[in-house]
Amino acid sequence: MFRIRENEIADALTTADIWRIMLREVPPIAAEYFIGGADELTTLKANVLAFQQTMLAPPGAVKHKTLDTTTSIFGQQLSLPFFVAPVGSLRTLWPMADAVASQVAGEFGTAMTLSTLSQTPMEAVADASNGPKWFQLYLCGGVETAKRGIRRARDAGFSALVLTIDTAVSGNRIEHDRMKPMDAVGSIYSGPRKLKRALHKVKLAPQIVPRMGWLRRHWRDGGLLPFFNIIDECGEPMPYAGIGEQLAASAVTWSDLPWIKETWGEQPLIVKGVHCAEDALKAEELGANGVIFSNHGGRQLGRAIPSLQIVAEAIPKLGAAKSKLDCAMDGGIRSGLDVLIGLSYGLKAVGLGRVTAGGLGAGGHLGLTRAFELMKEDLLRSMELLGVQNISQIQEQGEELRRKSMVLGTAHLPEFIF
Ligand SMILES: Cc1cc2nc3c(=O)[nH]c(=O)nc-3n(C[C@H](O)[C@H](O)[C@H](O)COP(=O)(O)O)c2cc1C
Repeated sequence: MFRIRENEIADALTTADIWRIMLREVPPIAAEYFIGGADELTTLKANVLAFQQTMLAPPGAVKHKTLDTTTSIFGQQLSLPFFVAPVGSLRTLWPMADAVASQVAGEFGTAMTLSTLSQTPMEAVADASNGPKWFQLYLCGGVETAKRGIRRARDAGFSALVLTIDTAVSGNRIEHDRMKPMDAVGSIYSGPRKLKRALHKVKLAPQIVPRMGWLRRHWRDGGLLPFFNIIDECGEPMPYAGIGEQLAASAVTWSDLPWIKETWGEQPLIVKGVHCAEDALKAEELGANGVIFSNHGGRQLGRAIPSLQIVAEAIPKLGAAKSKLDCAMDGGIRSGLDVLIGLSYGLKAVGLGRVTAGGLGAGGHLGLTRAFELMKEDLLRSMELLGVQNISQIQEQGEELRRKSMVLGTAHLPEFIF
């Protein structure tokens, strides 16, 4: 009952298989946070659909002796053009999950981005990998708390600061609110609605009992831990509660960029959650070195355009404006072919949010390693089939490779899994 699902993980052939293992391993009350998106999940699903609807025309009779997947982005050389996107609360999926993700990223020669809203101390995440580590910044706790976090990240060896700008408030996560996960973890001896919360806990038994391995690991790891990377003026970490209010109270505006850049120093400053070329150029003007086009995995504005559409619209405009920004994206990437499609618009790398969460939840190091192997194998196969040898060829030939599909509707597309 407590064993890692080794055989299932080894047999997984797609990241959707890994995701399904995660759903068997992690109770819905904890998994929902990772599954969910905003409102009716329109943007979450559109992120995935935009990739699925992209069709390609491969040239024939091309065979390269070697393939090269290395790329250079945000001041770092990566062996693979995908990296771990910042995902909060990963430690509810697996013990020390952020450090595990960092280790796996390092083993694959790629980068780990650590969320501010994480429960693994950043030093442990930095120590887990020799590869690049990037720190994602929210201003939770206010300016002075953020400055402490920025300096600490720099001292710990993080080499890029990723500032997220799409969280003026938390998105409307309806299913999350319905499930009331915080009622499941709080004490039933204090606070309001004691009886209701006690009943809520009892009702969870049917989903927890078949997942005792998760429960045991979660307890042994310390249960629901505070945010160790947000330290207040008294040296205390922010408790695991009230994130929504914290985000709203400390939303980023353009006027914050100068002091953030000054505190961070010379290393790359990246702006994440960019939805259009105009904002990318604004970020560049204010000193950003790169941007991540992203709608937060469909978790913020429920009708935001899909990430791939953001990229398709923004990249030509950045080219015309002679922008020097390093550009990446995230949102909806589930396979190596999706990675290739993202790069075909001229990006240097792409981020993986739910693929990372799925791998960690399915089986920690083993699960995430399998997820990354699948992504890598599919990327290499797709490069072979499209006759491209390296990342610059994908970027250069992208426009020729992509074709407008003649097939209307979605009947030919796979069902939405995650
Ligand atoms: C459960 C979850 C938590 C997230 N937490 C953060 C966060 O703390 N900071 C942040 O900048 N982005 C966060 N994101 C957004 C991701 O960095 C990324 O933009 C998104 O997951 C990409 O979409 P994908 O999940 O389809 O790959 C989160 C995403 C998920 C799914």
